Amino acid sequence: MRMPTRHLLGIESLHPRDISALLDLAESYALLNRSGKTRRDVLRGRTLINLFFEDSTRTRTSFELAGKRLGADVINMSVSTSSVSKGETLLDTAATLNAMNCDLLVVRHKSSGAPALLAQKVDAAVINAGDGMHEHPTQALLDALTIRRHKGTLEGLTVAICGDIAHSRVARSNILLLTAMGSTVRVVGPPTLIPSGIEQFGVTIHHDMADGLRGADIVMALRLQTERMSGGLIPSAREFFTFYGLDAAKLAHARPDALVMHPGPMNRGVEIDSQIADHATRSVIREQVEMGVAVRMAVLDVLARTATPNA
Ligand code: CP
Repeated sequence: MRMPTRHLLGIESLHPRDISALLDLAESYALLNRSGKTRRDVLRGRTLINLFFEDSTRTRTSFELAGKRLGADVINMSVSTSSVSKGETLLDTAATLNAMNCDLLVVRHKSSGAPALLAQKVDAAVINAGDGMHEHPTQALLDALTIRRHKGTLEGLTVAICGDIAHSRVARSNILLLTAMGSTVRVVGPPTLIPSGIEQFGVTIHHDMADGLRGADIVMALRLQTERMSGGLIPSAREFFTFYGLDAAKLAHARPDALVMHPGPMNRGVEIDSQIADHATRSVIREQVEMGVAVRMAVLDVLARTATPNA
């Protein structure tokens, strides 16, 4: 397969056919990873730079692992010890990396649109690893792969995305992907954490967990993104947990075989109870992390092929 564009900036630019093809390739990488084998020929001679202006555990590590398993030379740029701390701009930093003939540039930034801006300025394929409140496309792809492995399909499922929808790029990318693939998506949270106009994305809004989770196949809990909140949007974390924290009583409204998901990092006792987060049969949170490596291998593979017309 080839991507419709040279970059992966969001789910918005992907056709359902591209999403299915990426998930199929990621599934093959998931099986390869479980077998302990690698495919170092795929990105041999290519250079991948991780440029993270925001903290990350899962995304940065999994892009590094994905690149290495495919044979790329992988560089992790530490922004705090780079010349960014001396005032170098985002564009100058990117131009500097571009001059080193980097092939794949993975970017996380607090500003929505930063990866798209870089994509106009560099020769490398740019991958959005999370930009502000905009998109986190590889997170939505890994979530979709995890769901598809358990449910066999994305079509016809009911997915409840709960908590801080307003500040979540994960919610936005998941809504775009899941609705495009035929799932019904509900967003569940207090009015202060649901952005106005979100129903235009084809979702229904619920302010009560029992109502929002009723009959759901998938329940996705999201972290309160306090770093993006400008004021007190919830009375307290304790009160938030009482009304919106995912615990056994609230999960009982979903289907008995409903899966519990969380993109991480989790705040236990705020948006999710430990008993549910660690549930042996319901929680697929660790599998999400595992699928993150496979999805990122698929994305790197396809973008490298897209950049090389005869590959
Ligand atoms: N889900 C996610 O993006 O996690 P990190 O912030 O640890 O990368």
